[in-house]
This record gives sequence, C-alpha cells and structure tokens, in this order.
Amino acid sequence: MNDPDELLRVEGVRKTFPGVLALDAVDFDLRRGEVHVLLGENGAGKSTLIKMLSGAHRPDRGRILVDGREVRIHSAQDAERLGIATIHQEFNLVPDLTVAENIFLGRQPRRFGMIDRKRMEADAEELLRRVGVRVSPRARVRELGIARLQMVEIAKALSLDARVLIMDEPTAVLTSGEVDKLFTIVRQLRQDGVGIVFITHHLDEIAALGDRVTVLRDGRSIDQVPASTPEDALVRLMVGRDIEQQYPRQRPETGEPLLSVRGLTRDGVFHDVSFEVRAGEVVGLAGLVGAGRTEVARALFGADPYDAGTVHVRGERLAANDVSAAMGAGIGLVPEDRKGQGLVLDASVQENLGLVTLRSATRAGFVDLAGRRAAAARIAEQLGVRMAGLGQQVRTLSGGNQQKVVIGKWLLADTKVLILDEPTRGIDVGAKVEIYQLINELTASGHAVLMISSDLPEVLGMSDRVLVMAQGRIAGELPARQATQDAVMALAVSAPTMNEVEGSRGH
Ligand SMILES: Nc1ncnc2c1ncn2[C@@H]1O[C@H](COP(=O)(O)OP(=O)(O)OP(=O)(O)O)[C@@H](O)[C@H]1O
Ligand SMILES: [Mg+2]
Repeated sequence: MNDPDELLRVEGVRKTFPGVLALDAVDFDLRRGEVHVLLGENGAGKSTLIKMLSGAHRPDRGRILVDGREVRIHSAQDAERLGIATIHQEFNLVPDLTVAENIFLGRQPRRFGMIDRKRMEADAEELLRRVGVRVSPRARVRELGIARLQMVEIAKALSLDARVLIMDEPTAVLTSGEVDKLFTIVRQLRQDGVGIVFITHHLDEIAALGDRVTVLRDGRSIDQVPASTPEDALVRLMVGRDIEQQYPRQRPETGEPLLSVRGLTRDGVFHDVSFEVRAGEVVGLAGLVGAGRTEVARALFGADPYDAGTVHVRGERLAANDVSAAMGAGIGLVPEDRKGQGLVLDASVQENLGLVTLRSATRAGFVDLAGRRAAAARIAEQLGVRMAGLGQQVRTLSGGNQQKVVIGKWLLADTKVLILDEPTRGIDVGAKVEIYQLINELTASGHAVLMISSDLPEVLGMSDRVLVMAQGRIAGELPARQATQDAVMALAVSAPTMNEVEGSRGH
C-alpha cells in the first residue's frame, strides 16, 4: 500500500490560533524528486502548513506521515532527524554571527573539543560556492543584503543533506540572475531525489520549475493541478475570480518637481546621482541588486549620510541624514526590509498603521482615537489585510499582510513624495493590483512616487519614466514608451565597475 516514492503526506490538518482559523482541512503530499508548489493568497495558510512540517507549530487535528509512518514533529530537531530542512519566509539567521557560524549553528565541526574554525569556514566556503554566491564565510550576517541572506539560508539547508527541502518564497528577494542560479540548484536537488516544497507568488516560476501545484484557499487545500496549468487558471483557483489588467496605469498631467536630487554622492556607494520626480508622476528605479538603489533611497529619506550633492523637496533644501526633517518635508519610505525597518512587530495592526499619522490625527491637543481607528479600518479594508481585527499583533499576520500594513502606514501619512522600495515583494497577484490602484490614486491627487523594484514588468508597467542604476550611477533614463526589458537590462549591466571609476579618478 505504501508508495515508495512518497516522502511525506499531510492528512486533514487543522490549526487554529486565538480568533483565527489558519488551516481548516489540508491534504498535501510530496514525492521523491519533485517540486511541489504551494499556491495561495496572502493569509491562505501556506506558511502555517510548512511550519507544521518544520516543528514550529503542532496541528490541532490531522496526521503527518513520513515514509508512510505517522510522525510527531515537535521541534526543529525532530524535523532535522526526519530529513526535513526549511527555509522560512522570515530568515532565521543570527545577525551578529558570521556566515559560517550561522550555517553550522549548533553543529559546528569540532577538533579536540574546540570548534574547528578553519574546517567550518572551508566547508562554508564550499557550500557558498555551490549556491554561487560571492560572500566571505567570515562576514557578519548583519552586513549582508537581503538577497545574500537568502543564499546563505539556502547554503545552510544544503548542509543538512535534507530529503525534504521546504522553501517559503525564496525568490521574493532575488533578482532574475539569482533566481536562475537558485533554479539550477533546485533542479539538481530534484534530480538527486530530494522532494521540494516551493512557495511563490511569481506565477511564471510555477511552470518553469514545478511539477505539481496544491492550491490553498482560506485554509483549505482546494485543488491539486499540474504545474503546466495556464496562469489565468491558477489565478482563478487561487482567488476564485479573474484578475483584470495587471498594471492599471492611468496618469494625470505631471506638475511641478516635488523631489529634486543633484549630484548625490556617497563615496564608494553611489556617485553623482541626479534626477527629479514631479507631482503626479511615478519614476521607476531599476537595476541589479547591489546597484545602489536602496542606498540612494535611504539617503533621500535621511536614514543614511551622503558626502556630496543636494536634495530639495518642493524647492526646499533638505538637511542630510535627518529622518525627521525628511518626514517633516513630506517624504515617506516604504523600506525593502519590512521586518527590520517597517514595523513594530509586537504592536497591533492599528498601532502600526497609525505610527506616522499621530500628529495629523491630533485634534485640539487630543489624539482623535475614533478618527484614527476609522482611517486604519478603511486602509486595511482597501488593501485587503487579512486579520482577525485591527487589534491583532502584526507579528502574527502572514508575510504578505505585514507588507500591506507597511504600505498602508505610509498611505495614511501626510506625504508628498513616497519612495517605495520593493513594494509588492511577497504580495499575491490580487493584492498587487490593489496596490497599483492605490499608487494611481496617489499620483491622481498630486503625489510623486519613486518606485524601486526588481520586478521588471512591474517597473515597466507602472512607471512614467525609468531610471536605470548600475554600479552606483544612473546609467540612463528611459521614458515609458522606450522602456523595454532589453533596454533596461542593457543599461543595468553597462556602467564601469566601481574599481575602474576609483582608478580613473587617480589620473
Ligand atoms: N501565531 C499566529 N497567531 C495568530 N494568527 C496567526 C499566527 N500565525 C499565522 N496566523 C494567521 O494564520 C493565517 C495564515 O497565515 P500564513 O502565514 O500561513 O499565510 P500565508 O499563506 O503564508 O500568506 P503570505 O502569502 O502572506 O505569506 C493568517 O490569517 C495569519 O494571520
Ligand atoms: Mg507566508
């Protein structure tokens, strides 16, 4: 009766949290040598399901079988013993340890009772080479960007020699080149007989990588289909309706420049960056990871210093490295790292949504609580935040719903210039369209939007102009009509390397 190729089976699993039915009745199975995609809207229950397999949660009801035998997975160690490795949506790395220490955390190679640092670093180096990421095993995790963190997580999973590898939105933080590398690794693992559970909101990745798809909706596994199923059919299964027009761009006439940046330079990071964004305009900032886009955004927002250049908002010169001055002038930033910078995880949805509106909601010296609550409720409804109520702790929202709260917080704030750094990372296809519509509403009411995104179709679809950064410089600007994937990519890889720039300066 046992299928020898079946690695894992989940039967009728149910999981409740206080006030939330996260999983109602879920069936799922994984075979040797397949990539099984878990698909579902933000809050559908994907991460909750895999947390049952990694030992983070226990089901209230239902069974989990490994190799045909019922098992209890009550800890990460249980999962590891069963050969299950998980790359979580929220990274589990320790920021103050090195890359090598993180990879071998709790199982460092030892020699004469001491941690064998040399061997650990050599082994880490080999794993990092396998995933094709150039990072020193001795670098501290705190210093790495989010894409490299992801690759370190993958290296760590490889080091466990797992038979089941679970990846919760691994591509959300990667650019196309890195995604290609990841796919090569995953295909190799599949060939070696590993069973892979793969979660993604990028539908094009499903046919490219997957074998089967299980669709979750509202905590139920509603269907299982081949990965070759057309995207529109997958969307219909997932959200229960068709989704119209991916990029509903409608722009008013543009007005005066709201943000003007001249010669902005931070030595060794970005150089001579100049551009402006007008009222009613969306300017896209494209480029490869490491091109300096996030760094420029943080400098504009006053979060990081710069060495030369100026930033003007509505004609007023902005002081450098002063977040409250930037916010006072009307700049908002939705950061790429929502967990680190965007949210107070232990506070409620309502408190997070109100973080930057405190001042404007004060009436005659009193905080207008009812007004704040109503505004928070409205934006949460518009963005479709899936939650038990406005009082729910943000930590317990699903990843995509946390991202919606970060965006909502800034939409409620009284900004004129909104900088969005990877705004739809981890957002499902239906909710993406809602966010695009909100961006349109912002421009219609005279806001200026600077949008950084590694999702090229999104940058091209939403921007009126696209600036392409390469190696810390603006390599070129393309109006919407001329901005094609090829044109952007050609610019993105065009600039001289930083070293060449440094070198030529010496002459
Ligand atoms: N610890 C918790 N306490 C309360 N509710 C929780 C907890 N963990 C998850 N939930 C709820 O369970 C539901 C499913 O969340 P889950 O994280 O599994 O969604 P998801 O499918 O992974 O979504 P996303 O695509 O946004 O990552 C959500 O409504 C979420 O708020
Ligand atoms: Mg999730």
